Amino acid sequence: MAETKNLTEYYIQADPIIIPDSFEGYPLRYFNLPLHYRDDLNYVLIPYGLVQDRIEALASRIFHDLTINIPEQLICICVLKGGYRFFSDLISKIQNENRLQNNRSLPMSLEFIRTRSYINDYSSNQLEIIGLSDLNNLKNRNLLIIEDIIDTGITMVALKEQLEKFQPKTIQVVSLFTKRRKDKQCIFKPDYCGFEIPDHFIVGYALDYNEYFRDLEHICILKESGVAKYKINDNNI
Ligand code: HPA
Ligand code: MG
Repeated sequence: MAETKNLTEYYIQADPIIIPDSFEGYPLRYFNLPLHYRDDLNYVLIPYGLVQDRIEALASRIFHDLTINIPEQLICICVLKGGYRFFSDLISKIQNENRLQNNRSLPMSLEFIRTRSYINDYSSNQLEIIGLSDLNNLKNRNLLIIEDIIDTGITMVALKEQLEKFQPKTIQVVSLFTKRRKDKQCIFKPDYCGFEIPDHFIVGYALDYNEYFRDLEHICILKESGVAKYKINDNNI
């Protein structure tokens, strides 16, 4: 009996998968990759299938946690554009739980916002939030912010501050990735996280580099030639 309990706890565990600095990734030849990006990539850091598996575990965990504490409708906020695939897959996996579990249920509504803080592959302190003006219905509601990656943490701290102005009852954050930065520590820890990754710039699964590579399934690391090819020249902006 004790064994069964351990298995259940293991299945819905909340801890992120930690990818160590020493991990060298998977060779490109193992994967189906779009021809238009094949020469720009160095290696696959996280295959699409593993991302899906991890999202399933996150969905299960969130479903179990929030149906205990928050039986009301949850407002799920998608941070576009990078979060759109994670949002879509996470919501559909929570919907699966809603269909399959007979003794619990998590009603959801869906909102979409945009933030902008990146030019090329470095973090800037500038943050612009778009789409917040008509979110007055957040008062006394439970929010779940669904984000692709927490890197410096600056964006999420600013976003949470802005959302708090609408006086929600709770704000929780789920991020598919957090980055272990070498220079300074990330200033924000999400409530739920899929993977903790080394200090690399990642692309794929809707995460972009200057609007390229969103249309790639796997999470990949670029070659230097790929970084150079799609770089926005600072003189042009
Ligand atoms: N990749 C893409 N977008 C990002 C990253 C990253 O590593 N960090 C913050 N935004
Ligand atoms: Mg993002």
